Amino acid sequence: MLGRIDHIGVAVEDLDTALKLYADVLKMPVVHRETVTEQGVEAVLLDVGESHVELLAPLGPDTPVGKFLAKKGPGLHHVAYQVSDIEATLAALKAAGTRLIDETPRIGIRNSRVAFVHPASTGGVLTEIVQPAEDH
Ligand code: CO
Repeated sequence: MLGRIDHIGVAVEDLDTALKLYADVLKMPVVHRETVTEQGVEAVLLDVGESHVELLAPLGPDTPVGKFLAKKGPGLHHVAYQVSDIEATLAALKAAGTRLIDETPRIGIRNSRVAFVHPASTGGVLTEIVQPAEDH
């Protein structure tokens, strides 16, 4: 069951440059900054009401976000929906024949469990489903 939009992911070349807009001008509070080595990104979460913007900067050119930037340039990267049971959502997607990037959940930012759905199955929108860690 989908809860709400957890965050939208925005690919940026440089986090500190992006933060000048999001944090300094738009006054979105920075709530978390984390390097996720397995995903090859440094991510910053900013509060937007109950949801977040996730700024993503690649750790190198040969990472998913690095390749995205090289191909498409900075911009909207993915939309993340919050779910209460990620296994059930993945099973439903699989049963519907949806192409999954992650067949099983992996650990995302702030110890959430996440899985990505291929944009080929979602009308071109890279889609992430997120089950937050218990303490959030
Ligand atoms: Co995300």
